Amino acid sequence: MTGSEEDGTGQSTFDEGVRSRVDETQSEAARNAVAGETDTDADGETAEGGTQRSIRDMLDDEGEASVFINRDLVEPDTIIDEERIVGRDDQLESVVSFLRPTLQGNRPPNMLLYGPAGTGKSLIIGAVTQQIIELYQSKGERFGVVDVNCQPINTLDQAVYELVQTVATDVDARVGVPETGVSTKCKYRRLYELINEHYDSVIFILDEIDLLVGRRANDEPAYSKLLYQLSRASNTNDIEGRVSVAALTNDPKFMEDIDGRAESSFNPRDVYFPDYDATQLREILENRRDAFRRDALEDDVIPLVAAFAAQSHGDARKAIDLFRGAGDLADDRRDGRVTEDHVRESQEEIDKDRSLKLVEGLTTQKKISLYATAVVACHSNRSRSSVPSPVGFKVYQWVTDQLDADQMTRETYVKYVKELSTYGLISTSRKSRGRGGGMYMEFTFTGDPEAMMDRIVDDTRLEAIASQDELLRTVVNSQLKEFHDQ
Ligand SMILES: Nc1ncnc2c1ncn2[C@@H]1O[C@H](COP(=O)(O)OP(=O)(O)OP(=O)(O)O)[C@@H](O)[C@H]1O
Ligand SMILES: [Mg+2]
Repeated sequence: MTGSEEDGTGQSTFDEGVRSRVDETQSEAARNAVAGETDTDADGETAEGGTQRSIRDMLDDEGEASVFINRDLVEPDTIIDEERIVGRDDQLESVVSFLRPTLQGNRPPNMLLYGPAGTGKSLIIGAVTQQIIELYQSKGERFGVVDVNCQPINTLDQAVYELVQTVATDVDARVGVPETGVSTKCKYRRLYELINEHYDSVIFILDEIDLLVGRRANDEPAYSKLLYQLSRASNTNDIEGRVSVAALTNDPKFMEDIDGRAESSFNPRDVYFPDYDATQLREILENRRDAFRRDALEDDVIPLVAAFAAQSHGDARKAIDLFRGAGDLADDRRDGRVTEDHVRESQEEIDKDRSLKLVEGLTTQKKISLYATAVVACHSNRSRSSVPSPVGFKVYQWVTDQLDADQMTRETYVKYVKELSTYGLISTSRKSRGRGGGMYMEFTFTGDPEAMMDRIVDDTRLEAIASQDELLRTVVNSQLKEFHDQ
């Protein structure tokens, strides 16, 4: 049986916890209690300032103890000044040269920005489009940047609605179309209407586009349809101004799954974002050193953070997270300086936390998908523990049969597992089976798949299966054999 797709609302986020605020009333009460014998006036203020500490003093004190002076600079979502961008000159130059025509009244080409996570795709397109917005404004014209992340979106219809919502929010207009109960066409119409009314020119930025697969198994993927519609919207006069589409993805072979029609209308200029090496990561971090107090970083800290991040695929986001994490740890312990030990411990914490939080927040179907994939990696007798998606899917089917649970399509299974690569738990690559054999995805766990399995088993019905090691080994290896013999 094929069950309904889950919407992924259980997806965990890695948002920082909200920092606790000083409760003024409580502090006031405490202050009065401490003041004790001191005279207080009607407002609760002491007559001559007293010896107790004001809220401001306490806050200042906290500031002094912290290793940070501008923690925002090491927050992942902070939009940094362009002087802080390093190591992406070629990509910056390409994106600028592709988008420059829009300033001269011409239509810019569409773009495909691809490369692994944390390599600056969103940063570069964001930095360039921000400057274009400002240049347009200075001419009294309006450049619309419609930026949507496709990861949580399941269908084409939802994607179009999301675009309408994004534009409406940007221009402070009514969404003007209901989320459900009207056709996708109707939503497109509202999108074009809003754009024509409010922008002279527009760029759609479709982040993580490869995850917008859509519901149906053997149909053209939703991203292909969306790219087709948007990239021809100016040819069909649906959009009157200049339009371009920038698709962002981690998947280097993304274009291979696009329908021929969509391919020829989208026809993007490629911009490749490779991994950063340790030297580049070091420079990126050096450029944010002023997040910390001048003397708060021991010499080895930045090189060590860069080295850890370079090991895990050269992801700048991870480097920045670790940098911040080490500072937070130093603060928690009131150590006053960040040391190599803080970096090491923080790296361990990040590894542990990531998988734990992520796994806890997954929907049951995602847990089963991940579990089945980890089972293959763990029990494979082969030297390489990477998991071909067709084998992972077979084991997923087997597990769902054992549990009498709903069974998703293979596309959905692949989508779920691929999503985990966004969090660095798994890396994915596309493999070919040779001539005429078609393509498949291959999954590799970046950490220990066994630890992952243990965590999933902790909070699902999988216990009964997990205890049958021998059986699992047999299922996995017979599926692997069948796959490789084909
Ligand atoms: N060249 C760079 N210089 C300075 N900071 C950078 C650079 N590249 C990335 N960063 C920082 O690293 C973080 C991740 O970058 P960004 O979001 O652009 O990556 P991405 O390629 O879009 O990743 P994903 O594929 O996961 O969406 C951001 O905080 C960004 O500011
Ligand atoms: Mg991005």
